Amino acid sequence: MTMASYLLCIPVSCAGAGCRDIDMSRIIHLFCVVIYLDLLYCVNASVLDNVLDSKVCFKNGFLFGVATASYQIEGAWNVSGKGESIWDRYTHEHPERVFDHQNADTADASYYKVKEDVRVMKEMGISLYRFSVSWPRILPNGMSNEINEDGLRYYHELLDELKLNGITPVVTMYHWDLPQSLQDLGGWTNPIMADYFVDYARVLLENFGEKVKIWLTFNEPLSFCHDGYGGDDAPGGRSSGFEDYLCGHTVLRAHALVYRLFDNEFRRKNGGVMGITLCFSWMEAATTSAEDQAAAETARQFNLGWFAHPIFSESGDYPPIMRKLVDANSKRQGFPRSRLPYFTPQEVKMLKGSYDFLGLNHYTTYLIKQGSRKLKATPSFLDDMNVKVFQRDDWPKTNSTWLKVVPWGFRKSLNWVRLNYNNPKTLITENGVAFEAGLRDIRRINYIDSYLRSLHDAMFKDGCFVVGYIYWSLLDNFEWMRGFSERFGLYEVDYKSPNLTRTPRLSAKYFTNVAKTGCLPNSYADYTYNSDYSSMQSYGDQDQCV
Ligand code: NOJ
Repeated sequence: MTMASYLLCIPVSCAGAGCRDIDMSRIIHLFCVVIYLDLLYCVNASVLDNVLDSKVCFKNGFLFGVATASYQIEGAWNVSGKGESIWDRYTHEHPERVFDHQNADTADASYYKVKEDVRVMKEMGISLYRFSVSWPRILPNGMSNEINEDGLRYYHELLDELKLNGITPVVTMYHWDLPQSLQDLGGWTNPIMADYFVDYARVLLENFGEKVKIWLTFNEPLSFCHDGYGGDDAPGGRSSGFEDYLCGHTVLRAHALVYRLFDNEFRRKNGGVMGITLCFSWMEAATTSAEDQAAAETARQFNLGWFAHPIFSESGDYPPIMRKLVDANSKRQGFPRSRLPYFTPQEVKMLKGSYDFLGLNHYTTYLIKQGSRKLKATPSFLDDMNVKVFQRDDWPKTNSTWLKVVPWGFRKSLNWVRLNYNNPKTLITENGVAFEAGLRDIRRINYIDSYLRSLHDAMFKDGCFVVGYIYWSLLDNFEWMRGFSERFGLYEVDYKSPNLTRTPRLSAKYFTNVAKTGCLPNSYADYTYNSDYSSMQSYGDQDQCV
């Protein structure tokens, strides 16, 4: 079976345990752009294969890939007609807010290194490359009345090079670099942004639709809405519990509008699939008490459900608990209406089912206890959610304060998605870890290996429908407010060398092995953490709120 066909489609003939044995490349070619049936039967066949196979293997065309994002790697921030993004503006105006006072003006200069970067991927034997398009590189003023030809040229060059090397692109339309001109209109808090996003998406679908078959509308709306409009990220809005909800509302509408546009006007012509990437850290109840169990569920609904429930649940709309809490708090605070906007019945309908697959980013786990916050006059997302969030001190640390190594949470996250959203077809669009610079990154191998084992359990012991795993990230890159201080790359980038030399870490060798064989090497088993989450205990009272 060819690589992307696994994610893209299932021919009618591929049903039941025999599907692996059929040479389907021809059939797939004919059917895959028009038939989007369920892959479940094939996954069941794989379950059988793996029960019989003691080695930990992902079979039947399971896809491995690596990811990046435009602002974090491209550089060339103001060349060849590119417009200014909110991250350009923010890092230039507020270097003091970035941990190492850096910006991504140059970053990894990937804009100039298409061949070099694709060669590295080819050597790794991966089948997917997830990257994002920079909206202001394509539309310098954000709107489609002016298209930057060089922007189109650059992404065509990248797509052509990927094709030449047999790598399938997974393209994110929006990975946080909004054109500054649109932020000047209020950015995502302004409902009209949904229309501008549709215009932008149309330009992408018209120009790249023949070459791109796997689309993601947005990357992690929770992060860019909450941290961008209610936290420290660009554009620097500090209005948690209000502007972040307005942002989320516009983004959800924008997602559904673009999915429907794709479905109605482009799918038949170009084929392909479209989803959205959501992030989900596992939220484990800190004790078995009913209060903490309920608090953990509330936390899951605020963190994943906010964006997933309207799209993936059977009932649609915001999660009922979020609706209830924000409505009640808004009232108590004297607001004339809820801070969480309401969808019209048509919008609920348009959003429900607006996906072909779920893109899931997962990194870590938190423990949750019932909150004891007194409602303040000034709203906040955390007050609305009202839980205590912390991590255990003895969970292995990494170079990111928020990221501790807890592989069993991956399996739990996937099972929660399976149970709440009817086991949607899922592509892991990010999983990864930052450690200090250096090439002998055994701890990264350890992290990936243990998370892949947890993923394997979720798929083959529990039946979660996962079709691929994309590591974040191919290269060290600009880690937003942490600058270049956190390194997620399988390849190290030497930021002191004039040509930003890329060197494979040990983890790149490990990942190459995994991608090429589809199996986890036995020799790394000794480094893995215990992924048996059934032995997980409760942790009583701890005061480590973050
Ligand atoms: C999520 C984001 O999508 C990506 O941009 C970021 O670098 C990684 N997580 C690591 O924090």
